Amino acid sequence: MFITLEGPEGSGKTTAVEAAVNKLIEMGYQIVRTREPGGTVIAEQIRNVILDKSNTAMDSRTEALLYAASRRQHLVEKIWPALKDGKIVICDRYLDSSLAYQGGARGLGIEEVLKVNLFATENTWPDLTLLFDVDPEIGLSRISKNAAREVNRLDLEKLDFHKRVRNTFLQLAAQYPDRYIIIDASKSREEVALATLDAILSKLCK
Ligand code: TYD
Repeated sequence: MFITLEGPEGSGKTTAVEAAVNKLIEMGYQIVRTREPGGTVIAEQIRNVILDKSNTAMDSRTEALLYAASRRQHLVEKIWPALKDGKIVICDRYLDSSLAYQGGARGLGIEEVLKVNLFATENTWPDLTLLFDVDPEIGLSRISKNAAREVNRLDLEKLDFHKRVRNTFLQLAAQYPDRYIIIDASKSREEVALATLDAILSKLCK
């Protein structure tokens, strides 16, 4: 089972899933937690180039290709082997982030970005995608309050960009209803964590 977590900035997906993962481990499930961009040494090196705030000259297609390259390496070294071992892989962001950020918000087009990603992933789609949906104004204000979180190049985009990210995610959820579950991430931490566990269990027990 391959599960991905998606959402705009400050949706709280990482925190929400921690509680759910602990519960699943207690229940005896074998979980591999990972994140994009990154997850392996080479992919983390690519991450540093992508998110470096000083790389203001980065072209949009270069950005899309780097995310896809990092994804490929992550699949080869970590995700595919874990899935082959029968583990549950829970990945913070994946292909849909490229469709929403580079395809929708940057304006490269969902179809164009999908083509590059189908090459990179050899058609590896998640079984379940949890969309932590929140108004970007709420999300961005959460980030600015979180002093421990480092601000990256994408965070620095204007509010309009983040609104396009959110809208594209909602469009993708409508396009792929079989694998998407939307979680209202404007609710309290406890409620979001509970909804996350429910969503994962509903898929696992199907
Ligand atoms: P990160 O600090 O991991 O953000 P978050 O905690 O919000 O997941 O930074 C990843 C950034 O990269 C985030 O702004 C989303 C963006 N991104 C893309 O634009 N395209 C992608 O394909 C992926 C995976 C992430």
